[in-house]
Amino acid sequence: MTLSVFDLSGKVAIVTGGSKGLGREMALALAEAGAAVVVVSRTLEALEKVADTIRQQGGTALAVAADVTRAEQIEAMVARVMATFGQIDILVNNAGIGGTTPVLELDEAEWDRFLTVNLKGPVLCAKYVGREMVKRRQGKIINVASVFAQVTARYMGAYAASKAALVQFTRILALEWSRYNIQVNALCPGYFATPMNAEFFASEAGQRLIQRLPMQRIGRPEEIRGAIVFLASAASSYMTGAALYLDGGHTLV
Ligand SMILES: NC(=O)c1ccc[n+]([C@@H]2O[C@H](COP(=O)([O-])OP(=O)(O)OC[C@H]3O[C@@H](n4cnc5c(N)ncnc54)[C@H](OP(=O)(O)O)[C@@H]3O)[C@@H](O)[C@H]2O)c1
Repeated sequence: MTLSVFDLSGKVAIVTGGSKGLGREMALALAEAGAAVVVVSRTLEALEKVADTIRQQGGTALAVAADVTRAEQIEAMVARVMATFGQIDILVNNAGIGGTTPVLELDEAEWDRFLTVNLKGPVLCAKYVGREMVKRRQGKIINVASVFAQVTARYMGAYAASKAALVQFTRILALEWSRYNIQVNALCPGYFATPMNAEFFASEAGQRLIQRLPMQRIGRPEEIRGAIVFLASAASSYMTGAALYLDGGHTLV
């Protein structure tokens, strides 16, 4: 019983931003736990590689190209998943962009880009996937926010605002959809080594920052695996509207 609550056999999961970084890692973890996994991003070639890896490991995978900022592409992606698998049990809203800009240099287009990809994207995906989950009265939605939903750092205004808003959206959605047996939670990673930040952590400033973290290291991509399987499975059945921080103690300082 204890371990079987993590079993995702028979479940269908969508992971946005599943072509690389944390999304790829979470897709592999969900597949290993037994779910059929749909990886979604704008780059079909990279998605196909992830899907191939899952299949080579004995899992079931589908790669679908879609831009999460475009409602019609998300709707088409959901239709494709429904036609292929007939159900959607898990949505991981992971696609996102990072970056730093001082507010005095932040132009309108950049602000819009952060808010559109990091906030509007998850909202639209939740809406279109949620329609299917509501019909079956079950579902798990995991919004990948960030430690910057809570901690501060200069020049992170647009990114941090998008992620803080995503956590609050998570709470509202959890409230709205608890009546449909859909649990909605946020996963807030601290610094993890991915293509998004590889350059920064290789720099002197990046190394200095790592030394200020309580655990004095950044996360390894595979360290996100346990948390995503927990949030996607029956192991978290009584948890909704929560934000789970996975940050090596970053929120402590
Ligand atoms: N790495 C960290 O330290 C860290 C810390 C806290 C939170 N996070 C969050 O974790 C998530 C993943 O980060 P990561 O480090 O793995 O980033 P990454 O390596 O840059 O990957 C980002 C993913 O998002 C996809 N994506 C970007 N824009 C998209 C769009 N408009 N439509 C569809 N897909 C899109 C990218 O695929 P395509 O380019 O193929 O579209 C890629 O698969 C993000 O939400 C990020 O904010 C990361």
